[in-house]
Amino acid sequence: MVLLKQLLLGSLAAGILLYLITHLGHQDRVHLVCPSESSTCPAGGSVLRKLGVTYEQRRNGVATGRLVRQLPHAIIIGVRKGGTRALLEMLSLHPKVVKAAQEVHFFDSNKNYARGFDWYRSRMPLSLNSHVTIEKSPAYFTTEKVPERIFGINASVKLLVIVRDPVIRAVSDYAQVLEGKRRKNKTYPRFESLVVDQATCSVNTKYKAVSTSVYAKHLERWLLFFPIEQVHVVDGDRLISDPLPEIQMVERFLNLTPQISRDNLYFNSTRGFYCLRSERRHVTRCLAGSKGRAHPHVRPAVLEQLRVFFHPYNQKFYQITGRSFTWP
Ligand SMILES: *[C@@H]1O[C@H](CO)[C@@H](O)[C@H](O)[C@H]1NC(C)=O
Ligand SMILES: *[C@@H]1O[C@H](CO)[C@@H](O)[C@H](O)[C@H]1NC(C)=O
Ligand SMILES: *[C@@H]1O[C@H](CO)[C@@H](O)[C@H](O)[C@H]1NC(C)=O
Repeated sequence: MVLLKQLLLGSLAAGILLYLITHLGHQDRVHLVCPSESSTCPAGGSVLRKLGVTYEQRRNGVATGRLVRQLPHAIIIGVRKGGTRALLEMLSLHPKVVKAAQEVHFFDSNKNYARGFDWYRSRMPLSLNSHVTIEKSPAYFTTEKVPERIFGINASVKLLVIVRDPVIRAVSDYAQVLEGKRRKNKTYPRFESLVVDQATCSVNTKYKAVSTSVYAKHLERWLLFFPIEQVHVVDGDRLISDPLPEIQMVERFLNLTPQISRDNLYFNSTRGFYCLRSERRHVTRCLAGSKGRAHPHVRPAVLEQLRVFFHPYNQKFYQITGRSFTWP
């Protein structure tokens, strides 16, 4: 399957090269297309392509001089299992958005943070000054020292948080850990026994899958440094069921001209999920389908106990953000 994909991409790249060779001189704006962000692309190729830099401009080195690595203008700070990858991929359909290829983990890792701002900048993609650089590291949201550190690098950076129903997010968080354990042939306790303290029968707030879902508590730490206007909350459940309105709100928040449309985000009824289509990149990808991981069965009484537990924090979160969610 992977091999087939590589073959397909490889022949696509070869075809495009041929096209370039035969059409150069006839065509003003030939877009150089690379099959993937990393592997076979010449350095900076994918960014140049994204920015619509023509092959001739590239060859003559006209545009390359203007390319810089910029510190992020916006950071997707979380939340883990909220849909951060989908959000980043959808946003980068916008021609003015460039993204860091990987999770950078600069502010949450002491080791990376000690490497300094220049190291951080070096993790960012090449871009033109007019472009918006975005990185995502979901651990930022819950790591205590991160807000202050980000404030120290750019007090006006825009922050994006994507959240889901906190109970579903907790189960999803558990399911990911469980999968990792199973892959290593390790046993792992049931969700119920981690979430409920066996001695007191109350919700175990120390368990990470629970504490991460207490969104209001984490957000309040961020608001010690940043005004709420600098934080935009994305509804991760709606990003799956009807992504375009969510993405358009983010475009507005980032002061981007509205560019992402139904052509880029279309519903695939066979799959039952939305897919991403980028004309520039000649790719179609369907995120949610492949990302979706089967959740374990959880006793309904435990789910109900969690719902009751999260309820006051959810109300607080709605109040702080000025946005209501339909979490039961
Ligand atoms: C800080 O973030 C703001 C908002 O995105 C951006 O306009 C500004 O250029 C950034 N400053 C630096 C030094 O990156
Ligand atoms: C997993 O562990 C069990 C029990 O130790 C063992 O019998 C089994 O062969 C292991 N399977 C793999 C794939 O390592
Ligand atoms: C829709 O999904 C099906 C099943 O995954 C896939 O075979 C098909 O190519 C997709 N169609 C489009 C237009 O994305």
